[in-house]
Amino acid sequence: MMTVTVCVGSSCHIKGSRKIILRFNELLKEYGLEERIELQGSFCMERCGEGLNWQIDEQPVTSSSVEEAIQTFTEKVLQPSAEPQGSAGSTKTGGGSAEASE
Ligand code: FES
Repeated sequence: MMTVTVCVGSSCHIKGSRKIILRFNELLKEYGLEERIELQGSFCMERCGEGLNWQIDEQPVTSSSVEEAIQTFTEKVLQPSAEPQGSAGSTKTGGGSAEASE
């Protein structure tokens, strides 16, 4: 389970953190990831001057606009979660195998 935390302190709130949470929520629904990614708000992360502050698990992220935050969220959270890569030996049936031999 991944946790995405968005700062909703007053400085980030003014810059649009509420919108970010709403959009993140919608995107999680679109991608069907609501069960796997937890979205939460946090008090001031003490980085007010830097922009819109949020976190992917423990990793701090700063975005200069709502759009940029959504782009980062898509690249770092939605896409990797929707298409897990590089795990070998899974028992799932994957596409793209060679033609069946007899
Ligand atoms: S209000 Fe978000 S870092 Fe301070």
